[in-house]
Amino acid sequence: MDSRLFSPLTIRGITLKNRIVVSPMLQYCADNGHVNDWHLMHYGKFAAGGAGLVFVESTKVDPRGCSTPRDLGLWKDDFIAPLKRITDLIRKNGAVAGIQLGHSGRKARRSVPWEGRMPMAQCPGVDHGEEWELIAPSAIAFSDRYSMPRQMTHDDIQESLSHWEQAARRALEAGFQVLELHGAHGYLIHQFLSPVANQRTDEYGGSPEKRMRFAIEVVRAVRKSWPEDKPLFMRVSAVDESGWSIEDSIRVAGVLKEYGVDVIDCSAGGMSDAATGEAPGYGYQVPYARAIRNGAGVKTMAVGLIIHADQADEIIRSGGADLTALGREFLHNPNWPIDAAQKLGIESPFAGVGESLAYWLGKRASSRAGTRPSTWQWGIDGNTGQSVE
Ligand SMILES: Cc1cc2nc3c(=O)[nH]c(=O)nc-3n(C[C@H](O)[C@H](O)[C@H](O)COP(=O)(O)O)c2cc1C
Repeated sequence: MDSRLFSPLTIRGITLKNRIVVSPMLQYCADNGHVNDWHLMHYGKFAAGGAGLVFVESTKVDPRGCSTPRDLGLWKDDFIAPLKRITDLIRKNGAVAGIQLGHSGRKARRSVPWEGRMPMAQCPGVDHGEEWELIAPSAIAFSDRYSMPRQMTHDDIQESLSHWEQAARRALEAGFQVLELHGAHGYLIHQFLSPVANQRTDEYGGSPEKRMRFAIEVVRAVRKSWPEDKPLFMRVSAVDESGWSIEDSIRVAGVLKEYGVDVIDCSAGGMSDAATGEAPGYGYQVPYARAIRNGAGVKTMAVGLIIHADQADEIIRSGGADLTALGREFLHNPNWPIDAAQKLGIESPFAGVGESLAYWLGKRASSRAGTRPSTWQWGIDGNTGQSVE
């Protein structure tokens, strides 16, 4: 079958073997910003499972920007060598290694999700127990529960730009081939874009153009150390709870493209602590990726409850996005691409994985026993489509 999901995509000097991307997902288990064996195993298995591009989680450019004490860091050179083990493993298993760089601004310093994501009033710094100060575009707390951040001075902003640039340089030295800037989910770049979080009266606040300035300067800073032949992605909240609209995102995407952003990764929300309304359904953010792709003429990546092979294939086929990112479905099934290739009827469904997996799974698939993988159907009788009550 002709599948668009399994067609390659070249962006600048990098070719992805398919359109399947592992979305950045914080593991909240770093040690003072450092990766450990968990990360090696975790990221390695997605590459071995056949994904085209594996993103390492939001990795912070400044220890103050850590969401939790267990975030990964790239604020010093010590982080480079351990991360290189991960990029080597990903590359050797046939995938491209990407990393997301982030700074949580006023949403930093919280407990890990399974401890309630509670804002932490007192907490030793992630790096070496230093004082952990919250900084943000304006001295406006995220919500009543959160601490008041300090408004960044002009010097703080220049220092932050240099942090982003240096982190990009370290990512390159660690062997990453794709870089994503986290400009979504109410974190620092998104805070600058938002008229709710950014009430500055200098050249970084006020009009939409001025609020966009920090994002543009981050891109320009990063492009100084991130080479021309390597792709740069930006994750945005295409819409948020505080008035940011899809039209705003289309405008920003068009400008970022001019400064060297190749792909807009289209997520949403994160600017408010309030509970969101409707529970999202399959592909709930795909319309944003489609609108930004059409409106700004830029490549997009769709994300959010993309779960099934035909669903992902249709997103690419219908021009909804150039790439599909899967998060929790990869946590459920790191071999999702093999599954998808079989379901879509790809001629050599195991071509995207290593020879050992390909040999054994190919042998089973071509046997006349009529068996199918456990992820294919419900029960031995093969009633597909039956759901678990
Ligand atoms: C455990 C976990 C950690 C996440 N960490 C990040 C992150 O580091 N950066 C980011 O932009 N989004 C993060 N997200 C959001 C995912 O990248 C993705 O956008 C979201 O889970 C929706 O996709 P899904 O329905 O395929 O999981 C995280 C999600 C999960 C479940």
